[in-house]
Amino acid sequence: MEHHSNIVPWQLLRESLGVEVDFVDITEGGELRLSDYDRLLALRPKVVTLTHVSNVLGTVNPVREIAERAHAVGALVVVDAAQSVPHRRVDVGALGADLIAFSGHKVLGPTGIGVLWGRYDLLERMPPWMGGGEMISQVHQTGSTFKEPPARFEAGTPNIAGAVGLGAALTYLEAVGWEDLHAHEVALSRRALKLASEKFDDRLHFFGPPLGSEREAVLSFSLAGVHPHDIASLLDAEGIAVRAGHHCAQPLMERLGVPAVARASPYLYNSVDEIDRWMDALERIDRLFRRPSH
Ligand SMILES: Cc1ncc(COP(=O)(O)O)c(C=O)c1O
Repeated sequence: MEHHSNIVPWQLLRESLGVEVDFVDITEGGELRLSDYDRLLALRPKVVTLTHVSNVLGTVNPVREIAERAHAVGALVVVDAAQSVPHRRVDVGALGADLIAFSGHKVLGPTGIGVLWGRYDLLERMPPWMGGGEMISQVHQTGSTFKEPPARFEAGTPNIAGAVGLGAALTYLEAVGWEDLHAHEVALSRRALKLASEKFDDRLHFFGPPLGSEREAVLSFSLAGVHPHDIASLLDAEGIAVRAGHHCAQPLMERLGVPAVARASPYLYNSVDEIDRWMDALERIDRLFRRPSH
């Protein structure tokens, strides 16, 4: 269920280091198939990596449990928290992972900046991945020494404007409050679920764990007989922005057996009224495509 950004880097390592990359399957309900995970753990992987929250399915993965099982076979755990940090208080200690990353632009911050958190003892053992000013302690013609982490990993003049913007965005989200934010998102997805069942029978399908269960409000959907790109264009004409496509998760699309899905990602700037408008517009699209002449 990974985003390409947690697939491609490992595939590059396959090219450069010859590592093997394998994938844990998902269940029909859009959760990691833990029996498949155990099968792969028996092969003694060096690294287990997963997304905390799926950007397509909204699934919240049991990172702690997965990390415990990984550590038991000596694997490091790397977590993509790009879709969890915007929605929930993430306690890096409680997750139990070794490295955790998230992006600035998903938390209302600027693009081109993000955060990599790492267990300090691990970072201390890691060599720099890029050289330049700022990350050095001493430079001589004969060689260089490097600063302690995290400075060791920040070569060159940093993205200062980005860091200030990201800090401001996180301060803003903290001030909104994670509980209020979560309650708002639950209300929006419950509303979508209620209207969907009233208006569409089973023609409107939501991917991932059932709405209303423990999941995030990443609402990927399909409407029977209508291509996701048509849905997106028609909604766009009504001023409603959803994304259609593979959502940078082509292996997941293949697993789901669809070329693309449409996705609404309601967040703190959306209202219940906007969910109603979305569902009303979808109802019109449904009628349009079900006309006999079509
Ligand atoms: C789960 C997930 N991981 C990673 C990314 C990519 O982040 P970035 O473009 O900052 O690398 C995204 C979104 O783009 C995402 O949804």
